[in-house]
Amino acid sequence: APAAAPASAPAPVASAPAPAPAKVYVVGTDAAYAPFEFQNEKGEIVGFSIDLLQAVAAKGGFEVKFVNTPWEGIFNALQQGDRDLLISSITITDERKQTMDFSNPYFDAFQLIAVKATSKVAKFDDLKKLKVGVQTGTTGDEVVTKLQGKNSANVKRFESTPLALKELEAGGVDAVVADNGVIINYVTNNAGANFKTVSDSAFAPEQYGIAVKKGNAELLEKVNKGIAAIKADGSYDQVYAKTFGA
Ligand code: ARG
Repeated sequence: APAAAPASAPAPVASAPAPAPAKVYVVGTDAAYAPFEFQNEKGEIVGFSIDLLQAVAAKGGFEVKFVNTPWEGIFNALQQGDRDLLISSITITDERKQTMDFSNPYFDAFQLIAVKATSKVAKFDDLKKLKVGVQTGTTGDEVVTKLQGKNSANVKRFESTPLALKELEAGGVDAVVADNGVIINYVTNNAGANFKTVSDSAFAPEQYGIAVKKGNAELLEKVNKGIAAIKADGSYDQVYAKTFGA
């Protein structure tokens, strides 16, 4: 009898191993800080910081998912491991460096005063006896608290910077102190509020950094490499121009 054809099954076709899915890091941001991080009409988190970190992640070979995180709990969320990264216009300070690690700086800022257009305030020192709105726990809060003293009842603390600015509009405070970019954005887009800005060279220069949990050197390195890469290849400038103009 003819030998039966060997019943060997066709050799399985070796398929290329699927590339390991890029790691998705959870990013905390207080998205009430236009033009840096805010929600658009659709409720999507957008802004300069979002574009920037997305560009950094693309270079670093990782992915990011943004989660709106109230400022007051944001550092805690990082420490607890609920967030892998924070990008929220966070000023790098020595005090914060004790509890988290920061990337190399990616943006320069300073404090700016917003007052009604009719206000006589001409310098920071003029705020000593006035009611001043700040966002709780920000560098604006720090400088105003230092000026007025720890127990001053005239420092009015708000959950978000827009709430402080609304209160200025309503006349409940005499001034707001916050980061220049956010104040300028608000004044420009709310002409009806009739605000003006007052700058003062007494304010120290500030720099924003991306934060990781203390000791997360691996992720910090990816972030720093990404920042260097987008600065070198022009994508930082593109991201910057999209929000702030060329
Ligand atoms: N740069 C200031 C700080 O670090 C204010 C940042 C507030 N950011 C925000 N998304 N609300 O204290």
